[in-house]
Amino acid sequence: MKINIFWLLNLQLFFCYTHGTDCRKEPKCEVTRVHKMKAANCYDRQFKSFPKCLTGDVEVIDLTFNRIRKVSRADLSKFSYLKFLYLADNLLSKLDGDVFDDLTSLTTLDLSLNALNKVPPSVFQLPSLKSLYIGQNWNINIVDALEVSRPIQSPLTQIDISQTTDEENYSNFPDFGILPFLVVLNITGNFYFSIRPALFMGLCNLQKLINDNVTTEFEDACDCWKINNWLTLRKIKFTPFTCNVPQAKCLENDFKEDDLQIYNQCSETFKHIQKTNLIIKSSIGVGVGVIVILFLIGIFLFWRRRNKRRSHLQNRKKSVPNEYTLCDN
Ligand SMILES: *[C@@H]1O[C@H](CO)[C@@H](O)[C@H](O)[C@H]1NC(C)=O
Ligand SMILES: *[C@@H]1O[C@H](CO)[C@@H](O)[C@H](O)[C@H]1NC(C)=O
Ligand SMILES: *[C@@H]1O[C@H](CO)[C@@H](O)[C@H](O)[C@H]1NC(C)=O
Repeated sequence: MKINIFWLLNLQLFFCYTHGTDCRKEPKCEVTRVHKMKAANCYDRQFKSFPKCLTGDVEVIDLTFNRIRKVSRADLSKFSYLKFLYLADNLLSKLDGDVFDDLTSLTTLDLSLNALNKVPPSVFQLPSLKSLYIGQNWNINIVDALEVSRPIQSPLTQIDISQTTDEENYSNFPDFGILPFLVVLNITGNFYFSIRPALFMGLCNLQKLINDNVTTEFEDACDCWKINNWLTLRKIKFTPFTCNVPQAKCLENDFKEDDLQIYNQCSETFKHIQKTNLIIKSSIGVGVGVIVILFLIGIFLFWRRRNKRRSHLQNRKKSVPNEYTLCDN
């Protein structure tokens, strides 16, 4: 009896402590199902560090509005199924370059409203990342991070870099290179030295540019019209940039061949990936079809053999009395 109680106590201690953390003292997250995913709702729980007591199978972690100052790779490495990580509105000021490297399933990362001055470049290589929110981190250096991460491998469809520069610290417009899947880009409230038309050419499927209150200069004053014209031509929703030269002065100004080349390259990449996906999907379809047909043939053969055997047996039964009659004679 004594041993049993001792065991229970030990067991309880085992479950309460994870990596030396007393999980009874850590703030509690509410674990629920959201769209069939296991989700940890840790919104506004006064977390000061990344939770240590969540189980490794959660797919959503919402840590918005806490007081977390640091997140390390070791904090995240066990979450191999994590798809959504919300860390907005915390006190993050620095992240290691490899902090997110183990999150191969991650599709959405929200780091907005922190005090980050660097984006870990490896974020742009996460194999499943579709939505990246890093807005409202004043003076976060996106330009340099992109310099070492291009070409971007992540299949990004949404990027928010709103309010990341300020009046006292203009930046260049970030060069994302070729992002064939990007649909929405939020640059609200930013201050740029210059934006070149080429920087939009690699975003060949862009549908929405959210550029309210953007202040920008241009290397060539006519670039302003070129960008407005290009975005209009591509049917992208945006607020036209205010140009300092009359459009009449820029009429002779066509898009540069090199810039259009970037657009073509982006479209080709997009088509190529679509085609590859289609081939993979149809191969899977054909594979499944073949398996179904083989299965049906198998059933048919089995059924035929059984019927044959049955009729064989019946024939034998019928022929037996005949033999007897033969003997009787
Ligand atoms: C301006 O922004 C850059 C990065 O974009 C940063 O390194 C620098 O510290 C900022 N300067 C000020 C005065 O905030
Ligand atoms: C774009 O960014 C601004 C500023 O952060 C934000 O208020 C707005 O909701 C964002 N728009 C979209 C569509 O995400
Ligand atoms: C743009 O800036 C003005 C003045 O700072 C502000 O009142 C307005 O709400 C801003 N608009 C957006 C969409 O952020």
